[in-house]
Amino acid sequence: MDILVVGGGGREHAIVMKLAQSPRVDKLYCTPGNGGISKYAECFDVSATDIDGVVELAQKIKCDMVVVAPDDPLVLGMVDALQQKGFKTFGPKANAAIIEGSKVFSKELMKKYGIPTANYEVFTDSESAIKYLKEQNTYPAVIKADGLALGKGVILAQDEDEAVTAVHEMIDELKFGKSSARIVIEEYLTGPEVSVLSFTDGKTVVPMLSSMDHKRALDGDKGLNTGGMGTVAPNPYYTDDVAKQCMETIFKPTIEAMNKEGRTFEGCLYFGLMLTPKGPKVIEYNCRFGDPETQVVLPMLETDLCDIFEAIYDHTLSELKIKWKSGSCACVVMASGGYPLSYPKGLEIKGLDEKGQLDGAVIYHAGTKLDGEKMLTNGGRVLGVTCTALTLAEALRRAYEAVSKISWENAHYRTDIGKRALEANVDPLNLDYKDDMEDYIESNGVYLRQ
Ligand code: AMP
Ligand code: GLY
Repeated sequence: MDILVVGGGGREHAIVMKLAQSPRVDKLYCTPGNGGISKYAECFDVSATDIDGVVELAQKIKCDMVVVAPDDPLVLGMVDALQQKGFKTFGPKANAAIIEGSKVFSKELMKKYGIPTANYEVFTDSESAIKYLKEQNTYPAVIKADGLALGKGVILAQDEDEAVTAVHEMIDELKFGKSSARIVIEEYLTGPEVSVLSFTDGKTVVPMLSSMDHKRALDGDKGLNTGGMGTVAPNPYYTDDVAKQCMETIFKPTIEAMNKEGRTFEGCLYFGLMLTPKGPKVIEYNCRFGDPETQVVLPMLETDLCDIFEAIYDHTLSELKIKWKSGSCACVVMASGGYPLSYPKGLEIKGLDEKGQLDGAVIYHAGTKLDGEKMLTNGGRVLGVTCTALTLAEALRRAYEAVSKISWENAHYRTDIGKRALEANVDPLNLDYKDDMEDYIESNGVYLRQ
């Protein structure tokens, strides 16, 4: 099969590299791709949101399947347009992608079908929103833009001033364009967060290995919300009991609810969960693979990803046994100094080999660009430095060792990715990864996956 992947970030790099392992895949294409992806797939200049352009490209290269990875083209109906031209696709149609495209839609869906989530109210004018905030007078207050906002449309306001500013910026100043003309104000929940990506063809739902994202820019979960600064998988807080509970109260009910609404979801449905003292609740749905969750989940997948994509398209997912490797995977995102606000582009990245990789780690490129022989920064999140090992502690240690070998001017990364996961105290090697792991491994004879 020849496969076109739409998108150009770390997630798409992870999808492309996984597909490249499939004996069934002949040729890989990606648009727009990036400096790292171009080493594994032929890249094109068509933007990921250009529906007509992508349809034309698919026709020109005569590919056998198109994988639409990012949220915007899915919400805009790229899969619908490709299917109309007879292409096999991976990703939900627009009427199902709305589960991410509109927070108001997803909150109403959960309310209607009794799926556990934070209590909420919807507002379209700032005056009533502010009146409500003043009546509630509980902080932090959670304020969310209804539509897509590059993962930045959620404000956790610490006091009334911050909350009022956020409401004005969203509704009156349309900070996120028409995405923030409507907002959701919801109850603040606490507990460990878990990302569960799932494969579904609308009949069967198969949760993937769980993971944990680190959304804030700075150590200790400080600083602004970002697209995600690092991930680990599996998430040790997501025990078998929690998984069973989520299947019964969240995963199956969501798939059934979408079917009942005439919006059958086919693709990767991402459940952003919080394990609250009152049980698991949905923080958000995404209609696609998470980024950087994909970078730690797909390396652990044993089953051929191409077979899974086809089974979803053919509605035969129940016939496929999906297997995972044992061990853990960790991804540390290296970002441009200044991200998620403004940052420079075009800085030379040092320490990578000619494939944009580094021995002992897998480097997923998120925002890079090739300039002759040089690899340059070309985005906020630049690289996802990823390692798999038998234990989380070791995966983290090796990922940070790799990070220390890569550099560019003002590169920024968090130094505490996986810290909270290690604190869950279920990792057999629950040691501080900054401690001297080598001695421990040597004396305990731990096998490390290469
Ligand atoms: P979202 O983009 O909806 O995933 O929200 C971004 C981040 O904001 C989440 O990963 C949580 O850390 C936080 N968040 C969102 N909703 C809530 C909530 N109701 N209570 C507490 N934190 C939340
Ligand atoms: N890492 C969170 C997301 O992909 O939305």
